[in-house]
Amino acid sequence: MSHDDKRFDPQRQHRLLSAERHAYWNPSQFLARFNLKPGQTALDLGAGPGFWTLPLAEIVGASGQVWAVDVSQELLDTLASRNPPAQIKYKRSELPTIDLPNAFSDFAWLAFVFHEVEPPEKLASELRRVLRPGARVAVLDWRPDAEGEQGPPRADRVTPAQVIGWLSAAGFADAQETWHDPDNYLVEGKA
Ligand SMILES: C[S@@+](CC[C@H](N)C(=O)[O-])C[C@H]1O[C@@H](n2cnc3c(N)ncnc32)[C@H](O)[C@@H]1O
Repeated sequence: MSHDDKRFDPQRQHRLLSAERHAYWNPSQFLARFNLKPGQTALDLGAGPGFWTLPLAEIVGASGQVWAVDVSQELLDTLASRNPPAQIKYKRSELPTIDLPNAFSDFAWLAFVFHEVEPPEKLASELRRVLRPGARVAVLDWRPDAEGEQGPPRADRVTPAQVIGWLSAAGFADAQETWHDPDNYLVEGKA
């Protein structure tokens, strides 16, 4: 199977912005655990139409930056149509390559995209490269053993242990699962 087969279909983008999804995740509240500060730079990798990008931009404020990176111009166009503040920057780019300088960012956020990218080892090393010393990566993704029926095919998903292994091998310290629910998990690591 090519990795394009795993890739999110932009025609399903309305699901990413549904009221039900907002009610479940409450993205501003979920992101508060990362203690980002005004003026910081954050990367939203695989940002899609911006479900997490807009709340990230509120947290870092006008003096900060949030880079919305996505392979899909259609999804970035949707984000651009949602009246985003000026601190949101756009980068059409195909992961695992992250077309940004070394030690560029204070935080990297990957929501439901890590499992779509190959090779994952390269993604992990690119994440390490673009983060400043002490910066954090956070990976939110689907559990292969999820209780619910939603989400991508189970065969496409990756386990928290796999993500921890790739991040650790790339030089992230202290990579660990910091949260989960019956269907999803969060892995964090420190650069
Ligand atoms: C399931 S959506 C999640 C979007 C967003 N993170 C969210 O949670 O609402 C996956 C996103 O990753 C993007 N994506 C998938 N593979 C990618 C790649 N290799 N490089 C960049 N973006 C990619 C898709 O275009 C899509 O926007």
